[in-house]
Amino acid sequence: MTAAIEVRDLVKTYGDTRAVDGLSFSVEEGEVFAILGPNGAGKSTTVEILEGHRPRTGGDVTVLGVDPGSAGSGFRDRLGIVLQSAGIDRELTVREVLEYYRTAYSRPRDVNELIELVELGEKADDRVGTLSGGQQRRVDLALGLVGDPDLIFLDEPTTGFDPAARRRSWDLIRNLTSLGRTIVLTTHYLDEAETLADRVAVLAGGRIVAEGTPSALRESLGEGTRISFELPAVDEPLNALLDPLRGTSRGRDRRIEITTDAPTADLAHITAWATSRGIELAGLQVTSTELEDVYLDLVGEDA
Ligand SMILES: Nc1ncnc2c1ncn2[C@@H]1O[C@H](COP(=O)(O)OP(=O)(O)O)[C@@H](O)[C@H]1O
Ligand SMILES: [Mg+2]
Repeated sequence: MTAAIEVRDLVKTYGDTRAVDGLSFSVEEGEVFAILGPNGAGKSTTVEILEGHRPRTGGDVTVLGVDPGSAGSGFRDRLGIVLQSAGIDRELTVREVLEYYRTAYSRPRDVNELIELVELGEKADDRVGTLSGGQQRRVDLALGLVGDPDLIFLDEPTTGFDPAARRRSWDLIRNLTSLGRTIVLTTHYLDEAETLADRVAVLAGGRIVAEGTPSALRESLGEGTRISFELPAVDEPLNALLDPLRGTSRGRDRRIEITTDAPTADLAHITAWATSRGIELAGLQVTSTELEDVYLDLVGEDA
């Protein structure tokens, strides 16, 4: 396989802010690569540098065999870009917008085919301004594909969507992967990265803090069980509950979460503590640890 993207020691500073702080990664042709991280992690900055839309401060970048910092229109012709917020003319119809943008490319896709691909057939002759948020995002996606690109950048394609719209978008993005194109996707949704990507780089504070296939990231946590319940309303410190636990506990959103390799012993202690006080632990759950736990550990709780 050949690399579609090679990044070595990429740095981008804005004044005193090191938005991207020494990134190295590569993306193979035909791969779906997700850059996952919280707001401000440096995702948009990174993809904009790869697209040639933003100059870098340091490091080496090769995209489709060229340096995006100095590449010409032939390079841009091979890219499909879906921005975090595209400024398209809301007075034009879906079809008009696509007709207009396709003139910029040397091998544009057929407009009807594109409208089918993003499932906007019934809205093709409606003005963009009258569409729902999710439908507008699908127009953005169609614009990213209008040049039949070899490499597609999707910057937070489903941020702000309701769950149903996110699932429809995932189906759509999976359709793209079946076209065999290389896709770089940014997201702050862990499940999105896990569902769509072949490989994930977790970005926090401008650095890659973990990288691998979703299943490798999951394994890196090892086996574990999570016990959680709502913070009990008691007039005593929780030391008698928490200190004897073998696992590690933390508070999150008015809940206590315990990650443990000794779930039987810890659960016995917790239920003994509660029953001896006549307390019913509301929302008591025992689950296996999720990739989300790895992610929150990596990027910090406040994400
Ligand atoms: N044009 C800019 N000027 C100054 N600071 C910026 C600019 N763009 C982004 N930043 C800062 O760089 C950091 C990374 O931002 P960004 O790449 O947009 O992150 P993300 O897309 O992961 O949310 C943030 O601290 C952000 O405030
Ligand atoms: Mg961003």
